[in-house]
Amino acid sequence: MQNDRFLRALRREPVDATPVWLMRQAGRYLPEYRATRAKAGSFMALCTNPELACEVTLQPLERFALDAAILFSDILTIPDAMGLGLHFADGEGPKFRNPVRSEADVARLGVPDPEGELRYVMDAVRTIRAALGGRVPLIGFSGSPWTLACYMVEGEGSSNFARPKSMLWNEPALMHRLLDTVARSVSTYLAAQAAAGAQALMVFDTWGGLLAPAQFREFSLRYLAQIAATLKADAATRDVPLILFSKGANGHLEALAATGCDALGVDWTISLGDARARVGGKVALQGNLDPAALHASPEAIEAEVGAALASYGDGPGHVFNLGHGITPDVRPERVAALVDAVHRLSARG
Ligand code: CP3
Repeated sequence: MQNDRFLRALRREPVDATPVWLMRQAGRYLPEYRATRAKAGSFMALCTNPELACEVTLQPLERFALDAAILFSDILTIPDAMGLGLHFADGEGPKFRNPVRSEADVARLGVPDPEGELRYVMDAVRTIRAALGGRVPLIGFSGSPWTLACYMVEGEGSSNFARPKSMLWNEPALMHRLLDTVARSVSTYLAAQAAAGAQALMVFDTWGGLLAPAQFREFSLRYLAQIAATLKADAATRDVPLILFSKGANGHLEALAATGCDALGVDWTISLGDARARVGGKVALQGNLDPAALHASPEAIEAEVGAALASYGDGPGHVFNLGHGITPDVRPERVAALVDAVHRLSARG
């Protein structure tokens, strides 16, 4: 490995400079991504073609001195492999042809075979890992059970996910059956990505913050803990750093850190210093610049980077990132200013 800063930071070992990568670093803000996507024809055609998925994974690394690559794919590959019929209408978010609404719908779901229905993802991991040639580590990922269940039950994106929340209150046992099947699928999928070459694993619990504290513990945290326990009990995945990112769930940092994961992603609604004071003795932290700060001038971006580094403070265990994904309207020069500032301002003599 030529650059292992990211893996060292996740293990809370000393680094020469703070590593940085960005959620959605491969995406529509890059003209070369838009060109490859046009060539593929659709987002899913891009995800299911390992050569093209590899091409777009590497695009941001050609432009910026990023310290990690992330598999180009989507969190909704698991529900699609379960038979829900994922599609992206042009200009709209994800939709499922067969959402999960009844007991019969939940009973029909099985755990997808990562080397079967999801083989295209494992092929992408193998292709990208070979193409990286040890330049930087490759991150594999999945959605969390709760976040996947949100899309599976709602059938599409939403700001409040009323259908899954209604199932949670009216049919809690059914929601638990669904979450258990999804959690077993996620553990199997992540372990297979590690076996195929992913060197760190991240779980996106994008919608954890929709839940009140007791419901978060029962319907999201419990299954994140189940996944962490499964991966940490297996000799093949025990040493692969695991990052949990529950967006909007800052009230639960201590409980998330106690799952046995190696790092927590944090959004921008808490300072890194406060997050570190609560869990820094246990896990590394990844975050947490507001993605909207990428609209600011390069000078203002540099100042924000300096403030985030100062907030985290000295000592190991910080991976610089945004608090959520880059939006399509960001200018690539601003991303360059961010990545450069992280390395320059954090360089240790
Ligand atoms: O971070 C990366 O660069 C890796 C690739 C990645 C994508 N999606 C590519 C993508 C990752 C890690 C994801 C995760 C994902 N997907 C999440 C969790 C992270 C988060 O953002 O909260 C969620 C909730 C999804 C579901 C999803 N996929 C939505 C809601 C959308 C539509 C939103 C949009 O930006 O249009 C997608 C599509 C998607 N996934 C795109 C990309 C680059 C845009 C597709 C396009 O090219 O039109």
